[in-house]
Amino acid sequence: MTALPAGSARRPRPPRPGGALIAFEGGEGSGKSTQARLLAEALRAAGRQVLVTHEPGATWVGEGIRQLLLHHDEPLAARAEALLFAADRAQHVQTVLRPALAAGAVVLTDRYVDSSLAYQGGGRELTVGQVRALSRWATEDLRPDLTVLLDLPAGDGLARARGRGAADAMECESLAFHERVRAAFRALAGEDPDRYLVLDAARPATDIAAAVRARVERLLALRPDRPADQQGAGAGDVTDGAGAGDDAATDGGRPA
Ligand code: TYD
Repeated sequence: MTALPAGSARRPRPPRPGGALIAFEGGEGSGKSTQARLLAEALRAAGRQVLVTHEPGATWVGEGIRQLLLHHDEPLAARAEALLFAADRAQHVQTVLRPALAAGAVVLTDRYVDSSLAYQGGGRELTVGQVRALSRWATEDLRPDLTVLLDLPAGDGLARARGRGAADAMECESLAFHERVRAAFRALAGEDPDRYLVLDAARPATDIAAAVRARVERLLALRPDRPADQQGAGAGDVTDGAGAGDDAATDGGRPA
């Protein structure tokens, strides 16, 4: 066996026993939640156990952190912001993501580590390397099997997002900030194309959903097939957070 350098981004990892982790990423208004929901419907119709969750705010501690992060009047230091997102993620990984994966669910998360790399690393004055090290520690290096990046010009996405209601702290950032975020997402995908699916978020939602489904079907075909009806009692419990740990992740419907 050839030893690969520790921490190599391209180190092949063995298939995850049981489930798969799929992250939806993108800038503001890129349609991640819709696509996660459409994929969940398709996978459930095919008999898969699915958990749909999101960051920040899918756990009891995350709800408070989300409020601090997105609804504050006083300035928030870039390092404090990065640490708060990492804390939200650490709780999410330990109490929601890992239990669901261990139970064999396909876990769809609306934002994950790449959001921190792009927003805190690309958008703010921190470096992607600093934020990556923090994220690896917080997640004990739990990485997605696939990341779907919904790519959209920053101005178009912001217009969509701001049209939905009162802007949160991140939506109030400048267009230049959101352009840096977009560039950072695209750079991450470019570094590891096998683990990303980059799609034009301006395409009709049904076209995007079909492309996502096709790619995920390929991914899951390489894994042990564990449809819910072939598993032991309680297999269907791991949906939308119920039974996935101490904290309940919600399916869509995030607080503002
Ligand atoms: P949210 O209301 O969940 O909406 P959406 O995901 O649809 O944009 O907003 C979360 C905000 O937090 C969003 O602007 C991206 C930002 N964010 C970060 O800056 N870093 C992170 O690590 C995560 C998970 C989110």
